Amino acid sequence: MTEHRRTDTRHAEAPAGQAREHSLRIERLNFAYGDTPILRGIDLHVREGEFLALLGPSGSGKSTLLRLIAGLESPTAGRLDASGRPVSGPGTDRAVVFQHYALFPWMTVVDNVAEAVAKAHPRLPRSERRARALKQLERVGLGEVGGNHPFELSGGMQQRAAIARALALESPFLLMDEPFGALDPINRAKLQDLLIEVWQGSTPRRTVVFVTHDVDEALLLADRIAVMGATPGRIIAEHSVPFARPRQRAALFKDAGFHRLREEIAEALDADTLAHLEAA
Ligand SMILES: Nc1ncnc2c1ncn2[C@@H]1O[C@H](COP(=O)(O)OP(=O)(O)O)[C@@H](O)[C@H]1O
Ligand SMILES: [Mg+2]
Repeated sequence: MTEHRRTDTRHAEAPAGQAREHSLRIERLNFAYGDTPILRGIDLHVREGEFLALLGPSGSGKSTLLRLIAGLESPTAGRLDASGRPVSGPGTDRAVVFQHYALFPWMTVVDNVAEAVAKAHPRLPRSERRARALKQLERVGLGEVGGNHPFELSGGMQQRAAIARALALESPFLLMDEPFGALDPINRAKLQDLLIEVWQGSTPRRTVVFVTHDVDEALLLADRIAVMGATPGRIIAEHSVPFARPRQRAALFKDAGFHRLREEIAEALDADTLAHLEAA
C-alpha cells in the first residue's frame, strides 16, 4: 500500500489490511431531465487503474454520465458505485477536470493547487502545502508561474495547472471532460503525453474516465473505449485498445490494427447517426 492510503482514512473504510478497490460499477443506469430521457441502460465497469475513454458525438450524454459519476447529478434509476459504495454526491475521491473552469480565477496558480493539497491533507502546515503545490506544478512544467493568476496563463498552461490541481487532490479517480478540446493541436499533443506520463507514474495508478469526441485521442490514450450513441445516450460498443505503451503517434498511424479499430469505431458512430436521421 502506498503512503497516502495508509495515512488517509477518507478512502479506507474497508477493514484493516483490506484495500478498497477503486473501481466503478454502473448498472442499468437511466437518467432523465424531467420527461426527457438522456441516458438509458448504461452498464459500465471500470477497473482500478484503468484508463477508460467515453467516446461519442456531441449530445450523446458523455458529460452527463461524467457528472453522474462525479456526483453532480443523481441517476433516475439503476446503480452507480465508486469504490464499492453508491455515489451520493461529490467527493474528494473523484477529481474532475473540465474543458474550462477547473481553477479558481481569484487565486494564484500555486494557491489553487495548495487548496487541493489542503483537501487531501487538512492538517499540513501552510508552508508545506505550498511546497507540495510547487512540486506538483514543477511536475507539469509550471514551476515558474505559480505566482500568476489563471487568466495570465495560456489555455495550455491553464490545463496543465488544472491537471496539477487534480493530482494534488490525490484522489483515486480522475474524471476528465474533453480537457484538451479547446487547445491547438501542438498543445493538445503535449498535454496528452503529459497526462499519460503522470498517470503511468503514479502509484497506485488512478482510475481515469476521459470524455472525448475524438476517436484518435481515445485510441492514443485509453486502455478501453466505451462508444456512446445518441437519443437517448447509451453505450453502443466497447473496445479494448491493445497497443503497447508508451504509444507513439507516428508508430500508431502506421499500424494496421490501429486503422482497423478506428474504422470499426467510426462505422459504429456513423451507423448510429444514420439510424437517427432515418428515424427523424
Ligand atoms: N440541464 C439540462 N436540461 C435539459 N437537457 C439537458 C441539460 N443538460 C444537457 N441536456 C441534454 O442532454 C443531452 C446530453 O448532453 P451532454 O451530456 O452534454 O452530451 P455530450 O457531453 O455528449 O455532448 C443533450 O441532448 C443535452 O441537450
Ligand atoms: Mg460534453
